[in-house]
Amino acid sequence: VIAQITNDDIESLLCFLRKFFFRDEPLNLCVGLLDEQPTSVDYEKYCLDSIPDGISLKAVSPSGDIIGVCLNAIVNRSDDFEEMECFDPKFRITQDLIDTINIELDIFGRFSYVDKLIDIRVLSVDEAYRGQGIAKALLDKTKRVASENGFQMIKTDATSHFTALAVTKLGFECIYTLNYADYKDEDGKVIFTPEAPHTCVRTLVYQLN
Ligand code: ACO
Repeated sequence: VIAQITNDDIESLLCFLRKFFFRDEPLNLCVGLLDEQPTSVDYEKYCLDSIPDGISLKAVSPSGDIIGVCLNAIVNRSDDFEEMECFDPKFRITQDLIDTINIELDIFGRFSYVDKLIDIRVLSVDEAYRGQGIAKALLDKTKRVASENGFQMIKTDATSHFTALAVTKLGFECIYTLNYADYKDEDGKVIFTPEAPHTCVRTLVYQLN
């Protein structure tokens, strides 16, 4: 079952993210987000930030457990781009990448007809249920929510190769690619070296009529 995430889900959502996404998303794994801490308070805040928008989704098992989440935020043209205040140095590393992409991409400049879009910020499925189409079901429902609520676009920064595969199957197009090998710090050192097949971050968009 796919359902909306509400305030009642917050505790179970955070447990889920600590067990899966914060540990195994390719970049979190790379920077060792949870190597020295049980969770990242800043990353949790970022994840919870989108819940009041009312369009984040969960996949639930027959026994009622969360087995997948798709955290969706509403972004309006009139919203000012704000770099998030962030004290967790490891979350900062991934957030800097997302900020860099947002600035380079300038999505509202590029798509002048778009006034409001859905940003898929977090996609995560319970390890025991992967490869069974749960991510695609969450994304498909996101498409329906977008169409029913007058959004003109859905976008996601796919740090995982599998996310890019899933959204491509659902009709998204890639508008930006950054190879991890080309993303370097001031000393010229590559910042992220995730395991294959995660070679790049891609921004993919779905345009609605
Ligand atoms: N090996 C090969 N292909 C795979 C694998 C795998 N291990 N897992 C998924 N795929 C492919 C599927 O075949 C499918 O492609 P297809 O339609 O061409 O056949 C596509 O990926 C999606 O398959 P789903 O079954 O819908 O995906 P799943 O439910 O397994 O969830 C997800 C995918 C969310 C990326 C999962 O692997 C996960 O939680 N990974 C760790 C966290 C993560 O990386 N999240 C995404 C970061 S990007 C973001 O959050 C915006």
